[in-house]
This record gives sequence, structure tokens and C-alpha cells, in this order.
Amino acid sequence: MALVKRSSGAAAVASGPIDDIFAALAKRPDVVSFAVGAPDPALLPGELVSALSRDVIGKYGSAVLQYGMTQGFGPLLDEARNLLRTRGIRCSPDSLHISTGGSGALHNVCLALLDPQDVVLVETPTYGPAVKEFRSHGATVVGVPSDDFGIVPEALEEALARYDAAFVYLLPTFQNPTGRTMPTPRREQIAQIVVGHDTLVIEDDVYADLRYRGVAPPALVSFAPDNSVYITSLSKTLAPALRVGITVMPPDLLRSVLALKQGIDMQTSTYCQAIAAEFLGSAAGAAHLARLVEVYSAKLDTLADAVERHFPPGFQWVAPDGGMFLWVEGPQGFDADALLGTALREGVAFLPGSAFYADDADHRNTMRLSFANVPGDDIDRGIAVLAALCEEAT
Ligand SMILES: Cc1ncc(COP(=O)(O)O)c(C=O)c1O
Repeated sequence: MALVKRSSGAAAVASGPIDDIFAALAKRPDVVSFAVGAPDPALLPGELVSALSRDVIGKYGSAVLQYGMTQGFGPLLDEARNLLRTRGIRCSPDSLHISTGGSGALHNVCLALLDPQDVVLVETPTYGPAVKEFRSHGATVVGVPSDDFGIVPEALEEALARYDAAFVYLLPTFQNPTGRTMPTPRREQIAQIVVGHDTLVIEDDVYADLRYRGVAPPALVSFAPDNSVYITSLSKTLAPALRVGITVMPPDLLRSVLALKQGIDMQTSTYCQAIAAEFLGSAAGAAHLARLVEVYSAKLDTLADAVERHFPPGFQWVAPDGGMFLWVEGPQGFDADALLGTALREGVAFLPGSAFYADDADHRNTMRLSFANVPGDDIDRGIAVLAALCEEAT
């Protein structure tokens, strides 16, 4: 076969262990998988989307199948503004954008911001695919020490003094992978630091609506509106396959992003955006969200209870207030990466925490358990198997 030249970006993100796990899981439907951060298949709203599809064709006719504005479909931009208002985020018409999923937003923003050798600062651990995205642009990704409440302000100050960073990438709410949420005072501190250093923060907030208890703190963007890119998505609440994301960013950055997007995918599907607009504006959409919260909340309780009962001493975790993930830290010497193969053979899967770090330090004693995608009745059985394997491995 002819040798095809690869870009340096492609070389920087060669597929890794996570890709191997998902490939293995695709062939093993019998496995109780805590590995996948996807919605519960039983809660994907097929009938609702089918009804909304009929509604949008009835309302807009075939125009909804046409090319549209790169910035976004008007009715969805209006609904997005309403959604953001419920999160305390105000945005001007020239700062709002509909992207092809949250991932599409991150990609386009990175194209507009990053040059090879730029530095991107991330909390530790962080969302693995974002690290891939940054590296694909030739950026160096630097992990900044974090604690149970997110990135540590003093450590961020230090990193910003040391590196001329292109931006800081943070997940302040129901973080993937740890589930942690940054409290309001920490958000204010981080915003002050970002503004003080005249840099930019990208706030990835795709789990905001999956809150099972407590009161939502204001989004980080509300404390530093001129220094923030705020990304959210309907993948976790409507359907990932529709690929609809919502982004707020400074208007001059949005102008660059729109110019770039014309060369990437021209626009996000008008048809999918129209369905998303109907979903956000309808009572049926609100009822669907309420159902998700009810079911996922019960699953989280089942998982937390199972982990509490089955895991051996020396393993630590904190149940989150929302999202899809519970993070487990084993004792030093416990090797989650090494355990995964055995776990798969025994019919249970998880993601080793080491997949979520940008640095080379040893984080092999951690694992991420996703609960949304696992059938509720399988959770206790799966955790019992996993916990027994962890006990054997320590
Ligand atoms: C933190 C985070 N950001 C972004 C995404 C991607 O979302 P989307 O499906 O909207 O591209 C995910 C998906 O798992 C995620 O966990």
C-alpha cells in the first residue's frame, strides 16, 4: 500500500488505549460497561424527535432542508439565548453561535486561537478528547494542579506567570472525569486571575442541565464575560446524534470562527437545529429533561450505594451532584490500567483515570465510572464484580 504522508497534528494524536477499549466493547454487548459517557439508550427520545421532525417540516416547509447561516438557525439562536439566561449568562447577538456539537465548537475555536508550540493550560485530570484536540494543533498541554473543587487558584497564577498560555480550558460543573463542581468563590477567584492576566478561559459546560441536587453556581463566564468562551451542548439532554452545540464568545473571535467554519462544514445542519429549537421551546422537551434527571439521579444513588457496600477499604470517591461520572481513587500501588483486561474478561468495564491526564506522572490508581449508560438493574452486579477484582489487585 502506498505510504500516505501524515500531518504533524495526526501524528500527535495517534489512537490510544481508550480507542482500544471502545473497539473491544463494541464486540462485547454482555459487558456491564461503566466506560461510556453517553446517554442511556432507553432514554433517547425517538418518538419525541420523530414528532418534532414532523413539526419542523410543517412549520418551515422544505426550507429547513436548505443551507443556512453559518452563525446558526434564527429560532435556535433565540431558544439558545433563553436557555443561557436560565444559567445566568447574557449574550449579545454577535457573540452567540451554533456549532456541530460541543466538540465542533472546541475545534473551531482552537483553529482560530492556536498556533503550533502554543501552550494550553488544563486542570488535572481533564477531558481527554480536548487534550487530543489541542495537541492536533501542535499545542503543548500543561496540567495545572487541582483539588476537589477544581483548578487551584495559586497554581493557575503560577502557571500563567510561567507560560504565555493561549488559553485555559476548564470544566467547572460536573467535571468529566471527576464529577466535581467548582464552588462560586473559586469561580470568582479564577475569573479574576484570568482577567488579571488578560488571557482567555474556555468553559466546557455540557452537563449543566443534569443536576440531581443542590443549587447551580453561576457559570464561570458570568464572572469574566469578555475573557471567556462558553461551550454547551444538547448531546446529553436531547441526542448526541443531532450534533448541536451552543457557544458564546467575544464577537471578534466569533467573526474568525465563522470565517473558518465556512471552510470546515459551512454550517451546522439546519434540520437538526430546527428540531433542537422545538425541543428547547416545548413542554415535551422540559418533561424529557425532568425524566432524565429523575432516572440518572436514581442510577447515581444506586451506583454510590453499590460502591459504598462493595469496594474494599483504601478506595475513595465522592458522589457528584450531577453529570454522568463517579471518580474512584485506589490506594497507591493499585493499577487500574493493568486491571482493565481482567475486568473485561470478567464482564465489566471502566475507564482508567490515567487517560484523563495531560502529564506523564503516574495516575494509574484512578478510574472513571460512568453511570448514565448502564442499565439500572446491572449497576450493583457490575460493581460487585469490579470491587472484588480491585480487592484482589491490592
Ligand atoms: C466534557 C465534554 N465536553 C464535550 C463533549 C462533547 O460533546 P458533543 O457531543 O456536544 O460534541 C463531551 C462528550 O462526552 C464531554 O464530556
